[in-house]
Amino acid sequence: MRLNRQGSSLVVRTPAKLNLFLDVLGKRPDGYHELETLMVSIGLFDTLRLEANDSGRFELFLDPASPGVPRELLPQLPLDGRNLILKAAELLREVTGCPHGVRITLRKSIPMQAGLGGGSSDAAAALVGLNHFWNLGLNSEDLHPLAAQLGSDVNFFLDSAPLAMCRGRGEKIEPWPLSRPLHFVLVKPPVGLSTKDVFQRLRISAPQGSGRIQQALRAGQIHDLGQQLHNSLEIPSRELSSEVAGILEKLGRVSRLGHLMTGSGSSCFALCAHRAQAVRAAHQIRSFSPGQVFVVQTAT
Ligand code: C5P
Repeated sequence: MRLNRQGSSLVVRTPAKLNLFLDVLGKRPDGYHELETLMVSIGLFDTLRLEANDSGRFELFLDPASPGVPRELLPQLPLDGRNLILKAAELLREVTGCPHGVRITLRKSIPMQAGLGGGSSDAAAALVGLNHFWNLGLNSEDLHPLAAQLGSDVNFFLDSAPLAMCRGRGEKIEPWPLSRPLHFVLVKPPVGLSTKDVFQRLRISAPQGSGRIQQALRAGQIHDLGQQLHNSLEIPSRELSSEVAGILEKLGRVSRLGHLMTGSGSSCFALCAHRAQAVRAAHQIRSFSPGQVFVVQTAT
């Protein structure tokens, strides 16, 4: 996440994530699922512009030039109190008593309902950005419990770790070192998936365990890493959307290193040896897939 002063505004650039590994360990008494998931930040960003609002109100606007929001998905992006950005602002006001208003303009480039963590990343950007903008003086330890209240993936984005193993609901973060940049081709099919629907359809099976992927990362072995990509949510997502299965099959044809669905879908990615291979794979995929195709690498 990058914070940048521009005159009297503060601009926050916040990344998307991919899950390279996701085991569901069981269902919890609170209805959520216990997870072990390896998340990596990628270079696909939303931007929040924060400006003072003398009315004392919180207002959220969508930049009309937002490539992540096709017209048909507009109704699914609320700009009122249901949006996690405004929930984050309310939470900060509740906790600190800060009386200031803010006007936030969101430029959305991260596709929605895509398993890329865009909404969670925006919420983390609001927490970190407003803490700075309003001089609240909260530290990371203060912000993490607020992030966990907003959503399971928000904590991952808070400290800008390039790679982290996330446990619990997803909110317990253990940063892992990343010895080299990773390159991907990423495909978001036209259809999106609801996280809640995917978890509801899941039948929990024996976890795979994260030992082997950790070994592959430590050794910097891209081929081994590709073989250890794993996501327990892929089966229910395939059942909900035949497009996910179709995209995975196409990704398997353009990259032999390994491919996977991210989070609860619907986006899928293939690991590539270097950027040039990802560019070639993207070119091939575009010729036979109607979705959005991105060439991305790990964000630092
Ligand atoms: O926490 P968040 O609001 O992002 O989660 C969205 C939905 O995904 C939850 O309402 C829940 O149904 C499901 N979920 C889950 N277990 C998790 C994370 C999410 O069951 N660890």
